[in-house]
Amino acid sequence: MCNNLVMEYVKFWILVFCTFTTISHTSAESDEDDDYLTFPPGFRLGAGGAAYQIEGAWNVSGKGVSVWDTFTHTYPQNIKDGSNGDVACDSYHKYKEDVRLVKEIGLKYYRFSLSWTRILPTGYPNVVSKDGLRYYNDLIDELHRNGIEPVVTLYHWDLPQVLEDQGGWTNDEVVNWFGDYARIVFTEFGPKVKIFTTINEPTSFCREGYGHLNRAPNKDLDPCGTYLCGHNALKAHARAYHIYDREFRPTQNGKIGIVFACPGQIAKNPGDEATVDTYYQFTCGWFAHPIYSEEGDYPQIMKTRVAKNSFDEGYFRSRLPVFSPKWIEYIRGTADYFGLNHYTSVLVEEAPKERETILDTGIHASVDSSWPDTATSWLKIVPSGFGGILRKIRDEYNNPNVFVLENGCSDNRTTLSDTQRIEYFYSYLKEMITAIKRDGCNVTMYSIWSLLDNFEWNDGYAEGFGIVQVDFKDPNRTRTPKLSVDRWKEVVRTRKLQPLNPTIEDASELFGHQGRKRSAKC
Ligand code: NOJ
Repeated sequence: MCNNLVMEYVKFWILVFCTFTTISHTSAESDEDDDYLTFPPGFRLGAGGAAYQIEGAWNVSGKGVSVWDTFTHTYPQNIKDGSNGDVACDSYHKYKEDVRLVKEIGLKYYRFSLSWTRILPTGYPNVVSKDGLRYYNDLIDELHRNGIEPVVTLYHWDLPQVLEDQGGWTNDEVVNWFGDYARIVFTEFGPKVKIFTTINEPTSFCREGYGHLNRAPNKDLDPCGTYLCGHNALKAHARAYHIYDREFRPTQNGKIGIVFACPGQIAKNPGDEATVDTYYQFTCGWFAHPIYSEEGDYPQIMKTRVAKNSFDEGYFRSRLPVFSPKWIEYIRGTADYFGLNHYTSVLVEEAPKERETILDTGIHASVDSSWPDTATSWLKIVPSGFGGILRKIRDEYNNPNVFVLENGCSDNRTTLSDTQRIEYFYSYLKEMITAIKRDGCNVTMYSIWSLLDNFEWNDGYAEGFGIVQVDFKDPNRTRTPKLSVDRWKEVVRTRKLQPLNPTIEDASELFGHQGRKRSAKC
């Protein structure tokens, strides 16, 4: 009897102890989870679009012709639906509606790009279009009137055709052409713009526009053209940076940087971090290393691999152009922030020589069949890759201040109920906030790509990245918010991520892979 009583007594205290530790463990976990759903103080949210993708008005008021005008008009068969950006979202006429949408969602800034040929119809500063200046001044003023900060990209792929006819980004005169254009932009808009971005995703237009026939300007110049384009893009960016730094920063006091396309990379064979790093250096590092690393210049692995392949192929010098020490110094440090575009990730593995590899990486990239598809063939949903790339940038360049200038996913434009996009944002943003709060990544801005469904380059209007749908059959280009606009309004109001289904607390349940609680090191 006595023994029984003792047993009951012991059982009782074991129960009390277990209940207590379970409760405290659960609440610690959910506090932490909750924290990773909430934006840090001062963190800014915005949305974006780019001139050729949204403006339309391709030939009004004397606007000059750009490579994308030429490409879409000459090769409509290269665009999925045979369309072009002649009218696009007609933001040239409807910019006030766009600004109103940004305001209604509650976003703090709007990223847009300038059309070089709208401002300089001849491509050169000998003719400055009054109408071009008026349009962008009106847009910037409208943003300020509504308490929205303009974030301005100088170049989002629409080079003046006249400059392309002289070699475009493969002619090193582009350094002067771009510098002259940049000086006009800073003079005209600098007093009202505090964040400039020089060039958007040079990897994309160099590889796809100059490397092989795909996008404007439709050149087929590999195995050398891609690197030559990139070389001049880095120099042109640095020229614009120094012009701003010397001539405008003292009075305008803004920030200027460049935007890198940085996919995530995950080892196909667990532990193969060398391959992961090589792939990173040939994508993000190609442009980031010359600007952000202490020593400057291209990543060593890139210089070594391209040189080796070039000599093996019988060239007398590396197909990757060489920077002089003067240029290395001139380019190094030319960014006030790290502009990051990130959408998706790939699995990487060393490839046997005969297998197709990306540039000179010697790497084969693939996707995991468990990664969910989106309407865009190359865009799989891999939230963990976002955290991985943020930590990689932190580790590579001494934790620079990162502005996420594009992130989002596409739908096939048949529904306003864009639930997949809501899940995408939730899972990617949770990764980002975790990278900031747990891992100390210095990210302070995040931009939804994109505000509107727009001309998605070779995919035309067949898919849309917008949180707002645009009816491209309607001459009025009516804008209709998708479900994610509702969700974004909540996110902005509460400064907290909102899952699609409030009963699903964790995005790993939605996308079921790549555990969320990895160690701080990637
Ligand atoms: C990056 C480009 O900057 C943007 O123009 C494009 O719409 C998105 N990727 C999605 O493809």
